[in-house]
Amino acid sequence: MLGATEFLGVPLEQFESGGREQLTYLLRAGLNPHSKVCDLGCGVLRAGYWLIHFLDAGCYCGIEPHTARVKMGLETILEQDVREAKRPRFDGNATFDASVFRERFDFFLAYSIWTHASKRQIRLMLDSFLRCSTDDAVFLTTFLPASWRFQDYVDDAWRGTSHESTVPGCIRHRLSWIQAECALRELLVSPLGRDTHEQYWLEIRRHATAPARKRRYPYWLRCLLVSVLPGAILAKRARRRTWGLRSY
Ligand SMILES: C[S@@+](CC[C@H](N)C(=O)[O-])C[C@H]1O[C@@H](n2cnc3c(N)ncnc32)[C@H](O)[C@@H]1O
Repeated sequence: MLGATEFLGVPLEQFESGGREQLTYLLRAGLNPHSKVCDLGCGVLRAGYWLIHFLDAGCYCGIEPHTARVKMGLETILEQDVREAKRPRFDGNATFDASVFRERFDFFLAYSIWTHASKRQIRLMLDSFLRCSTDDAVFLTTFLPASWRFQDYVDDAWRGTSHESTVPGCIRHRLSWIQAECALRELLVSPLGRDTHEQYWLEIRRHATAPARKRRYPYWLRCLLVSVLPGAILAKRARRRTWGLRSY
């Protein structure tokens, strides 16, 4: 109904399940009802709706400079009694500054934000995360990877609809650039794969609190080992049988 009159900033197909899918990524990363969440670019509360329902009162904060979108979400999507009981908070700053809420957040969420944000804006979000989150906080974000086929975005401005623009658009960033920016801030990036909306999820944590990752050899080396090793072992065993050798 809302989408018939105005572009909401996100596709209308699977609007409901798309919001729920964001909640499942947060749950898998350890979200609890008492977790404090900062939803950067929360829009019309596609994920906010589910998060506000799930979280305890006062635990959800959203940043959205397109204030008409938040108003739309609060007045038309979220139930009035839930709003009163859960007391979500919002801010309209355009610099991703989470310090306005005077909280230390357990989770930052930026869904379909790095698919529009410039590199300067992504740096602002990472710095905001460092300033305003707990030591073991998780930053969940999505992006579209640049490659030889799809250009890396180098301009300085937001690309897509916002409080300043009605022109839709999407951009891409190199994963290696994101990893380098995170490494500069002692943050570790773990790719979580692609969701049903073709968004690539990343989980970002402080180095000190990131779970130890198993050492993995490159894919080509693993393939080689899997194809060559069994043959080599069998051949060695056969030689031993032939010559009566024993190994100690
Ligand atoms: C593609 S929408 C995604 C909305 C929401 N995260 C969701 O999943 O439905 C991007 C949102 O980011 C907002 N946005 C644009 N510039 C922003 C800025 N500088 N700071 C925070 N949000 C911004 C837009 O107004 C828009 O609502």
